[in-house]
Amino acid sequence: MKTHPSPPRHFWRRRGLFGKLLLIGALALVPFGAFFGAVFTVAYQDARQSNLGELTFGNPVAVPPVLEPTVDAQGRKHFDLRLRTGRSELLPGHDTETWGVNGAHLGPTLRASTGDRVVMHVTNDLPEASTLHWHGMRLPARTDGGPHQEIAPGETWSPQWTIRQPGASLWYHPHPHGHTAEHVYRGVSGMFLLDDPESGRLDLPGEYGVDDVPLIIQDKRFDEDGELDFSRASSLAGGVGAGATGILGDEILVNGTHDPHFEVSRTLTRLRVLNASPARVYNLGFDDGRDFRVIGTDSGLLPVPAPRDRVVVSPGERVELVVRLAPGESPVLRSFPGGLGAGFPGDRFAGGDDTFDLIQLRAPAGIAPSPGVPAELSRGEPPEPRPGAPVRRFDLGGRSINGKKMDMSRVDEVVSAGATEVWEIRGGRNPHSFHIHDVAFRILDIGGEPPPSWLAGRKDTVYVPPGEEVRLVVEFGTDVDPEVPYMYHCHLLYHEDKGMMGQFVIVPPGREDSVPRTLRTGGHDHG
Ligand code: C2O
Ligand code: CU
Ligand code: CU
Repeated sequence: MKTHPSPPRHFWRRRGLFGKLLLIGALALVPFGAFFGAVFTVAYQDARQSNLGELTFGNPVAVPPVLEPTVDAQGRKHFDLRLRTGRSELLPGHDTETWGVNGAHLGPTLRASTGDRVVMHVTNDLPEASTLHWHGMRLPARTDGGPHQEIAPGETWSPQWTIRQPGASLWYHPHPHGHTAEHVYRGVSGMFLLDDPESGRLDLPGEYGVDDVPLIIQDKRFDEDGELDFSRASSLAGGVGAGATGILGDEILVNGTHDPHFEVSRTLTRLRVLNASPARVYNLGFDDGRDFRVIGTDSGLLPVPAPRDRVVVSPGERVELVVRLAPGESPVLRSFPGGLGAGFPGDRFAGGDDTFDLIQLRAPAGIAPSPGVPAELSRGEPPEPRPGAPVRRFDLGGRSINGKKMDMSRVDEVVSAGATEVWEIRGGRNPHSFHIHDVAFRILDIGGEPPPSWLAGRKDTVYVPPGEEVRLVVEFGTDVDPEVPYMYHCHLLYHEDKGMMGQFVIVPPGREDSVPRTLRTGGHDHG
């Protein structure tokens, strides 16, 4: 799988004694070069991580409970969510401070259908201000839960909206300006599944927790006391070479469970994979090389299932897979090296050379046969660019977009309601993951090439390889508000927190030039 040049360790090993002495002599002539060379070599070797052979898959994976809403006289569904602190045994024998929603770590699965009117009651019992953002949801900006909808400690925020989009696997997480990485990393995240009648009629695995299972994948790093370690967020692993990515953990949790397995009960199992990690990109496949069907991505089902044996999933992205197991089989879902496209040495420092076993699937004897995967899934049309569609360009820098760092009071882009636009995202030196609020988009091309079929459906987040340009056809919502912006940003949360984020407002068509580009509010307007 290695496509980069041999790492320095191999180079060193291949030398004979004379060669080594010669090298040492040469290095002694350039002490500064030697020093930095040595630091680089150590850092480079240190940066590759793997858990292969360390797991026994002994723990049944936790399946987040579905939160039942209360339905009021008008038929609105009310969900009560409480952000709180707690302690969890994430690693055996270690008691770790964690944050969660309605519990000590992670949050319940929310579920609603197209056409539902939902009311959220989000109470912040954390020691600091936070927000709760509905990632992938099309909704009015003041209900979005971005950095402008801060919830002070002790306060309750109650946004409501109507679900007006197809079925999809969305999620929710905090979005406080400058602190998103920390709040998500501590454990405030959950799934928000949307259903629609059309996809409900398909013969897809759909029994929650039985043959339809969310897999929230997160990497963590623990210190000696078993507490979550934040110290690496911006230090060596984040600062060397091209790899300034933020926290890359060396332990993987699935739905908060370490060393997990899932026992399937039918031959087909649908896995709704969410990458809720702050920075890690996973190159997913099975250890025995079996293939699976990709049936959906961020914003809904694909038109037809796409057979794959690998999928690259960057932070914020979701992918729905259907995998077939015969009785007695126990394949392991693994993240393989490769897939980042950052080259040498960028791949190494961004986690692209890492290998992690994530979860083992176990099929006992006598599992029930499932019907096959339907040949056609979604008949919804992915966004199409109209002739003359507006084109916008976004250059991803180290910590900025188009040379500008996030400013809560600056409106970067003004979009007209219901517009379909072409957004051209230019990758930088590091891996990035580009996300736009309120929208669904389709990838036109990546580095000039049309995307593989599994990436050709409706999405809201896309991996942007270093140095590549990704072009998107973006379909915007129709909720106008010249005063409350939506966000677009890198979903590597360290990048987002450091300023790689911008704001757009949606206005009635024809009003683009008459809206203020400076917002009066500094970030405390409560929707
Ligand atoms: Cu997942 Cu701006 O968010
Ligand atoms: Cu979002
Ligand atoms: Cu980034």
